[in-house]
Parts: sequence; structure tokens; C-alpha cells
Amino acid sequence: MTNLYLIGNWKQHGSRAAIQAFSEQWSFDPNPQLRIAIAPPFLYLQALREALPDCHVAAQDCSVHAQGAHTGEVSADMLVDLGCQYVIVGHSERRQYHGETDALIAEKLAAAQSAGVTPILCVGEQQAAREAGKQDEVVRAQLRSALATSQPNLLIAYEPVWAIGTGLTATPAQANDMHDMIRQEVSSLLGSSHATPILYGGSVNAENADALFACPHVDGALVGGASLEAASFMAIAQSASNNLSH
Ligand code: PGA
Repeated sequence: MTNLYLIGNWKQHGSRAAIQAFSEQWSFDPNPQLRIAIAPPFLYLQALREALPDCHVAAQDCSVHAQGAHTGEVSADMLVDLGCQYVIVGHSERRQYHGETDALIAEKLAAAQSAGVTPILCVGEQQAAREAGKQDEVVRAQLRSALATSQPNLLIAYEPVWAIGTGLTATPAQANDMHDMIRQEVSSLLGSSHATPILYGGSVNAENADALFACPHVDGALVGGASLEAASFMAIAQSASNNLSH
């Protein structure tokens, strides 16, 4: 195992007081093989960066445009300007509730890569697709569309939609099998010389993290709810760190 990635997605949560409290409780021995980042809402990126200098910061989205008359948008260049290392692209909540299409997601991926911020591309099937046994087909189509014009510098997060915020988690075997499929698909799309890290997301917590990190094809986690409290996020980080030392 070379590296693990742990990304906290705060979604539309957080405040200056919450960042202060999180940073007071955060105490974790940095492990050079474990990359930790937190994605707060845009307007807290700077405060979080200052409060948690040991962690990277990530954004939850970016614009396809570099600049211009696009009210409310934040460009990938602005994220780089702020020292942001990663940007989440194509989260299922953006696909489902903000009308993001595969084509738009491919454009966002390209915008992030050309600005120099590493995109974390989210893919994952809905419950009905899993029940119909169509999960591989859905995820393969998402990858083909997003990666058609992509460079190799990205992370991928497999987030089954039925596991996000529901307390249901893919079993380690389901996650591992899907990651194996994603790895093969990505290497046929982008070339096998690039080892694209594949993270799992969907109700990851301190209790299930060990079993997920132990899967050979799981290179980290994208964590929503359990990243909001320093104690639970630290416990997940500890579990990743322990796994690296095995
Ligand atoms: P969850 O969210 O950990 O709360 O399920 C994960 C995500 O949406 O990235």
C-alpha cells in the first residue's frame, strides 16, 4: 500500500465557531502516506486552512468557467489561488438536485485539471440500479463520459447513492469488487501506467472504516456526516493510519 486518502465532505455545514471547535479538538500525528483534506463550504476554505495547517483543504465544486459574468460561481483558478489541493466534482447531490449532467461534469473535471487542482470525481449507482444488478453498467457509463477528455491526475470516489447519509454502507466485498471494476475501466480509458486512487464513500464511520481500508482496492474514503466532528474524523484517520502500517 503506498498512500491512503481521507477527504471530509462537510456539505452545507459549518461555521466559524464549528471550525474553531474542530481545530481545538483535532490532534493527529501526521502520517506522510495518509493525505487528509476537508471540504467545507467555499466561504470557509480560508478559515479552515488557517485553523488546520496539517490538513489540506478541498472544495465541493467548481465552475467550468475560468472567469467572467457568472454570478455565484467559483473558478478552479480561484481554488488554486487559495491553496486548495482538491475539488469534488460530480457528487451525486449535485447530479441529483442541481441538474449536473455527465457532460457538465466532464467540463468541470477538465477545468480543475487545467487549473492545477486535483479533482475527486464521484460516481455511483442509485438503489434501483443496484437492485437490478446494473451497478457496473451505470458506473462504467459515468466513467466513460467523464474521462473521455480527462488527464490522468485525478482521484475517483465510488459513492453508491443508496449509502450516502443513510447509515447503509456497501459491504467491503461490494466496495472492493466495484473498485476493481473501476480500476480496470480507468486503466483502459487513461492508460495503465497511471495508478488512480479510488476512494469509497457512503456512511463511512469509525466503526466500519477498518474493514473498508483493509480492502485491497480501497485507497481511502470520502466521508460526509462523520467528518463533521473532530473525534469521529480522527478515529477514521487513525484507522487509515493503522492500516498503512500493516
Ligand atoms: P456520508 O456522505 O458519509 O454522510 O454518507 C458521503 C458523501 O456524500 O460524500
